[in-house]
Amino acid sequence: MEAHIIEWLNLSVRWLHMITGIAWIGASFYFIFLENNLNRSKNLREELTGNLWAVHGGGFYYLEKYKHSPEKIPKDLHWFKWEAYFTGLSGFTLLCIVYYYNANAYMIDPSVMALTSLQAIGIGIGSIIISWIIYDLMCKSPMVKQQKLFALFGFLLLVGLTYGLTHLLSARAAYIHIGAIIGIIMVLNVFFVIIPSQKIMVASAMKGEIADPSYGQKALMRSIHNNYMTLPVLFIMISNHFPSTFGHKNSWLVLAGLMLAGAAIRHWFNLRGKKISNYWLLPFAIVLLIGLVIYTKPENKLIDQQNTNAVTDMQAMQIINKHCISCHAAKPTSTIFAQAPKGLMLEDFETIKANKDKIKAQSVNAQIMPLGNSTKMTDSERQVLGAWINRL
Ligand code: HEC
Repeated sequence: MEAHIIEWLNLSVRWLHMITGIAWIGASFYFIFLENNLNRSKNLREELTGNLWAVHGGGFYYLEKYKHSPEKIPKDLHWFKWEAYFTGLSGFTLLCIVYYYNANAYMIDPSVMALTSLQAIGIGIGSIIISWIIYDLMCKSPMVKQQKLFALFGFLLLVGLTYGLTHLLSARAAYIHIGAIIGIIMVLNVFFVIIPSQKIMVASAMKGEIADPSYGQKALMRSIHNNYMTLPVLFIMISNHFPSTFGHKNSWLVLAGLMLAGAAIRHWFNLRGKKISNYWLLPFAIVLLIGLVIYTKPENKLIDQQNTNAVTDMQAMQIINKHCISCHAAKPTSTIFAQAPKGLMLEDFETIKANKDKIKAQSVNAQIMPLGNSTKMTDSERQVLGAWINRL
């Protein structure tokens, strides 16, 4: 019953997280589009910096952007903040439901480090808090004015952190925590900097004063940082569908490559939006991604050494019985799951055969199954299973 309730909690919070996340990132992309496409020269009133006509959903829209605050601040001023807050809150709740609640299975991999649940959760939450503090200090330091240095330093810190986390937690938990760190930095940027700065600007405008421009600049800078973080963070959120990324033995390097490619693609789009042509960023990102495809190619060396034909069906079925069916069964004996995860039941020969590629991907090429290696599957058992699948 408990596992059933957790599944539904997981479902509803994840649903909310996706919806608010789409609303937030959608609004963020839309405003960048507006900035880049405003008509800034033709037939503008003196007080405007630009305007834009659009047609959407069967209607015509007309928008204007002011140079400074308008003479009178309208009562209905839309703020765009709840999307960000709810994405952050639902994301953290999801982290608790999926990872912290079952820390033993999802956070810890004894072959990486034998931690207790409390230690693993402490590392997870601690890394989020420390990362925000470091990032915020960086933003307040003079380095922030040198954009390239700031980006390089920030990226190297993030890669260092990824390396550290993948050597402490299970690879899957390490990945999701890097995603959580980036996502929470984005939300706190909205909460601590962007919205408070805008409040100061609105308050000044109401008094008929012009606000100190540094508030607007700070908010804009954090907004730009958020923009570059969207592509990497979105990949990390879906990464656990892709075992060849987090299941790779150097999963930190794979994530570093993916984050770099994501930020490069975002930068290329931002430049294009400003009508600046760039010839190397996009090819660079594509070459990097192709490099990753090659780098993560499964190694079959060990398996080939086995005498493939010598592995009997019986041997393979025994391995699966021992290591998989506590979860992947119609009625799992594992207390964590009420139903077979992903509906995958590995109880009969035909289903196992039908899912052989998936099984190989998850438990031979990458070693992410059994979850958290809870049943202590050995390397030689993985090779035997791989050899048998090759023979099928
Ligand atoms: C402790 C429970 C547990 C054990 C034991 C376990 N798994 Fe899993 N398995 C899971 C969970 C949970 C998922 C879903 C992961 C996710 O959310 O992506 C999963 C997903 C999978 C998938 C992906 C299915 C899909 O459609 O994406 C495969 C394949 C798989 N497991 C194979 C195995 C094999 C093979 C073994 C034994 C060597 C094994 N599992 C042992 C819990 C377990």
